[in-house]
Amino acid sequence: MLFSPEWHYHMTELVLQYLRDSGQVVQVRADKDEWFDRYDGEAPALVFCDADHFYEPTVKDIEFALRVGAQVICGHDYAPEHSGTMQAVDDHGGYRALKGSVWVLSAPERFQTRAVIEPTLNSVTSVDPPIHSPFTG
Ligand SMILES: C[S@@+](CC[C@H](N)C(=O)[O-])C[C@H]1O[C@@H](n2cnc3c(N)ncnc32)[C@H](O)[C@@H]1O
Repeated sequence: MLFSPEWHYHMTELVLQYLRDSGQVVQVRADKDEWFDRYDGEAPALVFCDADHFYEPTVKDIEFALRVGAQVICGHDYAPEHSGTMQAVDDHGGYRALKGSVWVLSAPERFQTRAVIEPTLNSVTSVDPPIHSPFTG
C-alpha cells in the first residue's frame, strides 16, 4: 500500500505528538532538498535517510549529512529492491553496520562513533540525556 505524503505527515504528527508538544521534535513540511539548502543549524547527531530511494536523491541525503557534519549517517532500505540506495551507500564508503535493511554509513574518520554503535545496532541501550516518554514515565 502506498500512502500519500499528506497521510504520512498526519500519521507522523500523531506518533510524535508527545515529543512535538514538549518541544523535543519540530516537524517540518518541506521538500527535503529545499530544506537541505536552507539548513543552518548545528551539526546533527544523526541523519536518517528514508525518503526517496533512488540513487540521486539518496546521494543528496548522504552528501547533505556529510556537509553538515552529522555524527551518524544511517537510513532504511539497503536492499536489492532499492538498488539506488545500495549504490549510493556503496559509493560513499559502504555501510559500517547493517541490521535488516537499516544501514549505518562508514563515515569519514573524523565522525567515527564506533564505540556507540558496534558490534551491532542492538548495543545502543541508553540515550544521554534520557528521553522521558509518556509510556515509561
Ligand atoms: C518510505 S517513507 C518513510 C518515512 C519515515 N522514515 C517513516 O518510516 O515513517 C518516505 C517518506 O518520504 C517522503 N518523501 C519522499 N521524497 C521526499 C522529498 N523529496 N522531500 C520530502 N519528503 C519526501 C514521502 O512522502 C514519504 O512520506
